[in-house]
Amino acid sequence: MRTQFPPSSAHGSPSPTDRRLSALVRHLGVGDHSASSMESQDPNPAISPSATAAFSGDSVFANIVQAPEDPILGVTVAYNKDPSPVKLNLGVGAYRTEEGKPLVLNVVRRAEQLIINDQSRVKEYLPITGMADFNKLSAKLIFGTDSPAIQENRIATVQCLSGTGSLRVGAEFLVKHYHNRTIYIPQPTWGNHPKVFTMAGLSVKSYRYYDPATRGLNFQGLLEDLGSAPSGAIVLLHACAHNPTGVDPTTEQWEHIRQLVRSKGLLPFFDSAYQGFASGSLDTDAQSVRMFVADGGECLAAQSYAKNMGLYGERVGALSIVCRTADVATRVESQLKLVIRPMYSNPPIHGASIVATIFKDRDMYTEWTIELKAMADRIISMRQQLFDALRARGTPGDWSHIVKQIGMFTFTGLNTEQVASMTKEYHIYMTSDGRISMAGLSSRTVPHLADAIHAAVTRVA
Ligand SMILES: Cc1ncc(COP(=O)(O)O)c(C=O)c1O
Repeated sequence: MRTQFPPSSAHGSPSPTDRRLSALVRHLGVGDHSASSMESQDPNPAISPSATAAFSGDSVFANIVQAPEDPILGVTVAYNKDPSPVKLNLGVGAYRTEEGKPLVLNVVRRAEQLIINDQSRVKEYLPITGMADFNKLSAKLIFGTDSPAIQENRIATVQCLSGTGSLRVGAEFLVKHYHNRTIYIPQPTWGNHPKVFTMAGLSVKSYRYYDPATRGLNFQGLLEDLGSAPSGAIVLLHACAHNPTGVDPTTEQWEHIRQLVRSKGLLPFFDSAYQGFASGSLDTDAQSVRMFVADGGECLAAQSYAKNMGLYGERVGALSIVCRTADVATRVESQLKLVIRPMYSNPPIHGASIVATIFKDRDMYTEWTIELKAMADRIISMRQQLFDALRARGTPGDWSHIVKQIGMFTFTGLNTEQVASMTKEYHIYMTSDGRISMAGLSSRTVPHLADAIHAAVTRVA
């Protein structure tokens, strides 16, 4: 017997429930036609008699305006639309090989293989704070294995959704539990910082950081602005490889900044998205953070494994809050759970398993550091090659900042019009502030970029 769906009511006319089900059936385009014929007799216009009528009226979202593309991710959208065979994407902050291909580290493949072959692994939920091993090892990576703060259990570390998620959880925690809701961010900074902090409810102010005249650090401006920040304000610091400028303070300058931050009672919030990726050494790139932890004071640190382990899409990161005592850290962790639970409940398992697997095996850990250094070295070599190519062309200007800056990006100093002309004539894509990803360059593409820069600075004011 054929089942009628939805069934008619006992009185022959459809009940409200029947009508809702019929509308649903039409919308989904399933069921037999008896359902439709029944509905066509529906006298109630409130429940639309026709699926097309129901969906042809104005959308309840009709007044929504088209949002602009994200300024960074939008570069890739424009690049993808360009049919030119010579096009070059230097906008994306992701590592590429000499062949211009994304890279999955060999050690990551090995770890994944082990994970897949391990039949004892299950897909249960992780705790709200993530994988305990991963958290412990992440803290060791950034604070150092012999960090007193770790030994004294003064750090609350929670696994988060990569660097962005760690920043957001940290910001949400501060809005709820810290007395000062103003965060000072460097000018310029990664474009997502102001959005992440504003959405969390912090009030965002900036401090001077970059000096366009020297294409280096505006150290005096930085000290003045942090010096006049109100006591207790939060200060965002890029742990290394400042994005977008590639300009980091020297060790002496970091020490000055530390003294100022501590003397004013500011709360440092480190963003560590490039540990190991800048210099090739995990320890060197964590030096700034370790200086602040060594003085016994408190701070926050957001870690990302996107770049240094190439786990971009796995969304693996950690937020640590370094506290004065173990007791405070325990209570802080309990409150972090209350921030995370209604946000995404608990973090994903796979990426953290990869990181923990690599960290727990001495041989794999060594392999990771070698692969990481190779990525950093390739970027450093791209800097030299681009600098040499511009010198060889006699391109007007001092391009030494290309080799002095560090990390994934070079802040070229090219203006918006010059960037636009390079995109139009040379199909080279980058953010409009003139930031280029050195990781997207190769020996093969350096001459093309150097030609484009040369043309832009000689022809466009
Ligand atoms: C300075 C900085 N912080 C944080 C991030 C966050 O990256 P993710 O969320 O992919 O880890 C990035 C990525 O480009 C960055 O450059």
